[in-house]
Amino acid sequence: MSDFQSEIGRRRTFAIISHPDAGKTTLTEKLLLYGGAIALAGSVKGKKAQRHAVSDWMEIEKQRGISVTSSVMQFQYDGCCINILDTPGHEDFSEDTYRTLMAADSAVMVLDASKGVERQTRKLFKVCTLRHIPIITFINKMDRAARDPFELMEEIENLLGIRTCPVNWPIGSGKEFQGVYDRESKKILIFHANSDAVFESKEVKSTEVSLDDPHLESAIGADFAAKLRDDVELLDGAGDGFDLEAVREGKLSPVFFGSALTNFGVEPFLKEFLQMTTAPLPRNSDSGVVNPFDPDFSAFVFKIQANMNKAHRDRIAFIRICSGKFEKGMEVFHVQGGRKVKLAQPQHLMAQDREVIEEAYAGDIIGLFDPGVFSIGDTLCAADKPFRFEGIPTFAPEHFSRVQQADTMKRKQFVKGMTQIAQEGAIQIFHEPDSGLEEVVVGVVGTLQFDVLQYRLKNEYNVEIRMTPLPYEEIRWIESAELDLKTLDLTSDTKRVQDVRGNNLLLFCNNWSIQWALDHNRGLRLSEFGGTD
Ligand code: G4P
Repeated sequence: MSDFQSEIGRRRTFAIISHPDAGKTTLTEKLLLYGGAIALAGSVKGKKAQRHAVSDWMEIEKQRGISVTSSVMQFQYDGCCINILDTPGHEDFSEDTYRTLMAADSAVMVLDASKGVERQTRKLFKVCTLRHIPIITFINKMDRAARDPFELMEEIENLLGIRTCPVNWPIGSGKEFQGVYDRESKKILIFHANSDAVFESKEVKSTEVSLDDPHLESAIGADFAAKLRDDVELLDGAGDGFDLEAVREGKLSPVFFGSALTNFGVEPFLKEFLQMTTAPLPRNSDSGVVNPFDPDFSAFVFKIQANMNKAHRDRIAFIRICSGKFEKGMEVFHVQGGRKVKLAQPQHLMAQDREVIEEAYAGDIIGLFDPGVFSIGDTLCAADKPFRFEGIPTFAPEHFSRVQQADTMKRKQFVKGMTQIAQEGAIQIFHEPDSGLEEVVVGVVGTLQFDVLQYRLKNEYNVEIRMTPLPYEEIRWIESAELDLKTLDLTSDTKRVQDVRGNNLLLFCNNWSIQWALDHNRGLRLSEFGGTD
C-alpha cells in the first residue's frame, strides 16, 4: 500500500452527539488524553468558574457560559489518525451540529445512564440516520445511580428506531457499580473507584475475571454474580447478535457502558470503536460517487465561522476533505464561485492556537481563511474535472421573527450583514415572493440565534434592528414545481415565502394548517428539508 493510501486508510472522522450534560465534553477530553493531544483533563472545558470550551470564541457565548460553535480536534491513537468534530452543546445551536454531522463518517451517541434518550439526542439522531452512518452508543455515568440496562436498550430501540447490541454489560451502578462484562472476551472488568484516574490518561487499574471463575462471587458479590449470569444468558439468547455490516450501514448500534469521568471503559471503547468504524466514506456528487482514495483533491464547505479572533475580524470556512491530498498553497477550483482559489492559510483548529498545516488527507477537516467567497455546501476540486458534491440540506427552523432595520439609511450594511450571517448558516432568511431584503422573515433553529443576530449586526455591521416574533411553528418547502402557487388554497394564517435561493415555502402556525393545505391542494408535495443548491 502506498503512503497516500495508508494515510487515508487510517483516518477516522466522527462527531460526538449528546443531550447537554450527558458527558460529551468529558468523554472527548478523555479520548484526547489517550491521544496525547492535551496534557491534562479539564483543558477542554474549565467548568463552573469559566465554563467555556476551547472552541468558544464569541462574547455572547462567554457571557452566557455556553458553547456556541464547533471545531475539530485531531489526535493519533493505535495507528489511526482521529478527527473528532466538536459539536455545540447548546440545543439552540443544533443546526450547526446538524451540518457538522454531514462532515462525519460516524457518530458517537453519549447517553446519561440515569436519563436515557433525551429530546436533543432524538433530533440529532434523526440527522445521523439520514446519512446512514454508523452510530455507536456510550452509556455514561455508570458510577451514578442508573436505570435498568435492559430498559435503556429498549428505549433506544423504541424511540430512535435502531437495533442495539451491547458490547459490554454493566454490573450494578452508582455506589454499587462493580464493573462491566465484556461479551466478546467473556471477562469482567472490575471497577475500582479511583479519583486519580480523572486526571490520568490511563485506564483505571482494572482486574479481569471470567464468568465461570470461582472467584467471581468474592470479586463482585454473590447477588451480582447471580444476576450477571442471568443477564448474560438473556442477552445471548434474545438480543441482536453483533453484525459489523449492520453497524456500518447504521442499522445496528453497538452499546458500551462506562463512566467517562472516572475513566472507566473509555479505552476499550476507543479501541473497539476504531475497529468498528471505517476509513473515510465515498461521497455522492453530480458526476457520480467520489472515492476518497482518488488522487484528485476534493472537499466541501460544511461550516463558516466569523470573527474567531476579534483582532483579525476574519471568517474561517471549514472544509471536509473528501478525496486526495491537500498541500499548503495548492490551487483548487471553487465550483460555486466559478474560479480558482489558492489555499494559502490552511489551519487545524485546536484550542485558540491555530496551527498552520502543510498537508492533509481525505477525512481531515481544515479551516481556510475566507474573504467572504464561500458558502455552506460549496465544492472545491481539481480545475480540469469540476463537479458538485451533493449539497447539505437546510434544516427546518423552528422559530420565526420579522426583522427590519431601525435606520433606513443603513440599507446596504443591513443587507450585507444579513446575507453574510445567513451564508454562515446561523440564520435562514425568507422574504415575500419577488420582493427584496428590506424586510425579511428570519427563521432559526434555536431562539438564542436571534440574540446572536442582533448582537452581531450591531457589533460587526453597526446596524440596529427591530424584531417582531411571528407565530409560525412549522416550515415546509414546496416540492411540486408544476403548481400555480398564487392559487393555493391555504388557511388564513399560513404564509407563502421564498428562501434566498428562490425556493418556495409555506410557513404554518400548526400541523392542522399543514394538513389543510395537503387536503385542499391536489398534487401539493411538501418537504421538511430545504433544497441543497
Ligand atoms: P456535556 O459536554 O455533554 O454537556 O457534559 P459534560 O462532559 O460537561 O458533563 C456534564 C457533567 O457530568 C459534569 O459535571 C461532568 O463532570 C459530569 N460527568 C461526566 N461524565 C460523568 C461520569 O461518568 N460520571 C459522573 N458521576 N459524572 C460525569 P458538572 O458538575 O457540570 O461539572 P464539573 O464541575 O464536575 O466539572
